[in-house]
Amino acid sequence: MSALPGSPEATAVTGLDSTPVEPAPLDLPPLTEQARTEAREIIARYPVARSALLPMLHLVQSYQGYVSPEGVALCAEELGLTKAEVGAVATFYTMYKRRPTGRHLVSVCTNTLCAVLGGQRIMDALSADLGVHHDETAADGSITLEHAECLAACDYAPVVTVDYEFYDQQDVDSARELVAALRRGEKPLPTRGAPLTDFRGIERQLAGFSQYPDAAAAAAAVDAPGNYEPTLRGLRLAAERGEQAPPMRGPEPEPADTGEPRETVRPSGTTGETPGQEAADARVAAADSPAEKAGAAASHPDAPEPAGRRLPDGREGTDTPAGHEPGTSEQRPAEAPPATQGPDGPSRTIEGRGPSRRR
Ligand code: FES
Repeated sequence: MSALPGSPEATAVTGLDSTPVEPAPLDLPPLTEQARTEAREIIARYPVARSALLPMLHLVQSYQGYVSPEGVALCAEELGLTKAEVGAVATFYTMYKRRPTGRHLVSVCTNTLCAVLGGQRIMDALSADLGVHHDETAADGSITLEHAECLAACDYAPVVTVDYEFYDQQDVDSARELVAALRRGEKPLPTRGAPLTDFRGIERQLAGFSQYPDAAAAAAAVDAPGNYEPTLRGLRLAAERGEQAPPMRGPEPEPADTGEPRETVRPSGTTGETPGQEAADARVAAADSPAEKAGAAASHPDAPEPAGRRLPDGREGTDTPAGHEPGTSEQRPAEAPPATQGPDGPSRTIEGRGPSRRR
């Protein structure tokens, strides 16, 4: 049963008071020192610590089967974030589970192409067999069932994944057999991709650690046989017909350095503007509608730079100065930019640039 939005249990997990979540079950194993050590190992991979949050959440799921209150607290502590910030990320992505997941996660694509080929019928049949609905776990703890949006395998529709491994071109009978085998503890080979392990194993892989006991087992998983026929069929047809994609154009090669000064773009001589400026003027003049005119004006080389692109110290980009990342203990409120008074009232300015455009 889900905790009610706004309940202490819900807030404990996410730090948000409007997200339905489930408190930790009594038998949930605690996160070990090993988990914390591995979390720090993940953090060390990134130049900015908070970038490690996504794989850290997978790490938590590899230990506890979902993003538990303890896991949220660990991520927040290690990254210097608030629990609300960790919860906001964990509740945004569907791969982060808010309640304990079964041994296997079975995802049934019910998006357009799979749906018209029987995806919803598969979902309904599995739901009846397991006695659960979307995002619920069978009473024996074997399977969590979910419907999924397009799994990016439409050429194999209808598609079911187990722990994110593909079981292609399913129908009601084959999907029911698959789930029955999983409940018996078997691990049928996926139609392509690595051999099946389990939900916690794949979560460990997603955290950036091998889920296999040794290098030989990991290599065997990568080289697992698969049926790629539907994907290769188009390629084969093109080869039979002698069709080819046009060659990719790379960037123009840099001219050889002759030691002479480089030629620069010169005004065309008619208006005193460069050819690029003249072409942009022509696009603005030819625009039919106000929206087209605004678009052409915005892409004009003389258009003022959009707000927010230049950093206060004059550099370009969107990065945040060290120690000022949102949510860190070093965060300070942004200083208000200086205001200037125009003829029709105050207008905001951004340091190093003229007044922004009025709306
Ligand atoms: S619609 Fe199911 S994989 Fe794309």
